[in-house]
Formats: sequence, C-alpha cells, structure tokens
Amino acid sequence: MTAVRIIEVGPRDGLQNEKQVVTTATKLGLIERLAAAGVRHIEATSFVSPKWVPQMADHAEIMAGLPKLPGVHYPVLAPNMKGYEGAVAAGAKEVAVFAAASESFSQKNINCSIAESIARFEPIFAAARGDGVQVRGYISCVIGCPYEGPVAPAAVADVAQRLLELGSYEISLGDTIGTGTPATVLRMLEAVAAKVPTGQLAGHYHDTYGMGVANVHASYQFGLRVFDSSIAGLGGCPYAKGATGNVATEDVLYLLQGLGAETGIDLDKLVDAGAWISEALGRPTQSRVARALLAK
Ligand code: HMG
Ligand code: MG
Repeated sequence: MTAVRIIEVGPRDGLQNEKQVVTTATKLGLIERLAAAGVRHIEATSFVSPKWVPQMADHAEIMAGLPKLPGVHYPVLAPNMKGYEGAVAAGAKEVAVFAAASESFSQKNINCSIAESIARFEPIFAAARGDGVQVRGYISCVIGCPYEGPVAPAAVADVAQRLLELGSYEISLGDTIGTGTPATVLRMLEAVAAKVPTGQLAGHYHDTYGMGVANVHASYQFGLRVFDSSIAGLGGCPYAKGATGNVATEDVLYLLQGLGAETGIDLDKLVDAGAWISEALGRPTQSRVARALLAK
C-alpha cells in the first residue's frame, strides 16, 4: 500500500486568522482529538509576533499542554531567530520557516523581501543543525499572489532550491489563494521537481476555488506523498483577502482511501474531531465528506 503523510495544519493555519478568541484549552482539545484519530503530524502553533497574529500568542502554553504521544510530531512555524529560539525553548523538535514566491506577499506577510527572508533563515538552519531540530520550508503563492497575480513556476523553483540548499528536509508548496487548477499545479510541480526531488515536496492547497481535492489528486499522480490539510477546512490567510482554509483533511483522507493509500488516520474519528471544533467555533464544517457522513 502507498503510504501518504498528512500534515494537519488546522490548529495553526486554520486558526491563525480566526477573529473570535479561541482559548488555549479549545486548541488543545482539537489537537487531542486529532491525535486520537491517528493524525501523526500536527502543526501546533506559530512563534510569530503576537502583534501580527494575535491568535497564536499562546504558543508557549500550547507547547506545554501538548499530549505526549509516541510517534506524534508537533511542528511549529518560526519566521526568524527570535521565533526559533522561542520554539526550541518551548520544546519544539521541528520548525517550519516560510518564504514566498512573490515579493509583494513576502513584504505583507513577513515585512521583508524574499532575499532578506532567506538571509533570516540561515541562522535558523545553522542553529537547528546543532540542536538536532528538523526544518521544513514553506513557499507561499506558488500559483498566484493576491497582489501580483499569476506567479511564474520558475520563481517557485528558485525559492525551493534555496530552501533545499539551506537544509530543509521538505518543501511545502502553498497555493495560498487557492487559484490553482491541476493544469497550473502540474506546471509548477514540473518546474520545482527539476530542482528538488519529488520525495521532498509537499502540497499545501487552499480550497478557495474548490480545487483543493483536484489539486491533491493531480499532485498524487505526479508523485507527491505528503499533503498539508486542515480539519473541517478551517482557515483563511490574514494577508490574502478572501482566501479560505486549506483543503479539508476529511476530504483529502476520503480521496486517499479511494486511491488505496494508507495514512493511519481513522475517518470516523477525524469527522468527530471536525464536528467538535466546528461546534466550538459556531460555524458549519467546510468539509463535504464530513457533511455527508454526519447527515447519515
Ligand atoms: P517586524 O515588525 O518586521 O519584526 O515583523 P522586527 O524584527 O522589526 O521586530 C519588531 C517587534 O516584533 C520587536 O518587538 C520584536 O521583538 C518582535 P518590540 O521591540 O517592538 O517590542 N518580534 C517577535 N515577537 C514574537 N515572535 C517573533 C518576533 N520577531 C520579532 N518571532 C515578523 C517581522 C516576521 C516578526 C512579522 O512580520 C510576523 O510575525 N509575521 C508573521 C506573519 C504570519 O504568521 N503569517 C501567517 C503564517 S504564513 C502562512 O500562513 C502561509 C502558509 O500557510 C503557506 C501558504 O498557505 O501559503 C505557511
Ligand atoms: Mg496556508
């Protein structure tokens, strides 16, 4: 059976833009339910500036309250050395740095150019090597940018190559505004795969245009075996107006099960976790699969 790794990003990407206060206990309740459903990689929080993203200000409390379960990994985001040091002090063993393939998005999201962001990451990679911390590299706007429009596949490939050279164990390709279709995603993947082995690429697709599952499928056929997704389709990006959450984890799991791939995740328990957080947030799930199964 083909093994696929799902990185659940709901507690971070899904909740970072949530306007209402989500308590630390609710976030931890979600993480516990995800782990109980068999999710092994849960992006727990981000060590970014609380002035920029207030919802992630409880990062240290989240780290302190994480269920310690064998085989469950909790990567966190770190944009600079301050974030890295905070994350490691709080017990993080995996961090993710995040760059963009478009200059305007880089400025809006992390207040610096792409080249400056890479320079900020260098000391993180150097420290991580000494600390035995694994570093993942994210690229935003791999298909389109909310400020600049379509993004050239070559621009994505260049940033991916830099992040690989710095020492990323994996590069996650983010269609931040969800405008990608299988055709544009495959063009982008072809360009990136010329610089980075396919086995080190992950698909991170937002579902704004309803293309998330189609893009996961196209990427799977291309050879990708790692996908980021968000429980109940939670989320939206503070620096990309109108963007919705990642493709729902329930929907990705249903697709992968249909393809005969193995993820180790129990769909019924996952749907329960999604129903629980949707209820806590007071809004309907964005997952089509969850809606169908809950209506049964
Ligand atoms: P800046 O204002 O340029 O930072 O922000 P600075 O270095 O000039 O410092 C200004 C102040 O921020 C200082 O405090 C620093 O100590 C503090 P002051 O002296 O004024 O009291 N500071 C920090 N505080 C906490 N944690 C830190 C940190 N760094 C500096 N790590 C910065 C630059 C990168 C910090 C800011 O722009 C930021 O936090 N941005 C984060 C934005 C973000 O989280 N976006 C969402 C995540 S990315 C995403 O969702 C895309 C993804 O899902 C893939 C996809 O879908 O595309 C990954
Ligand atoms: Mg995202």
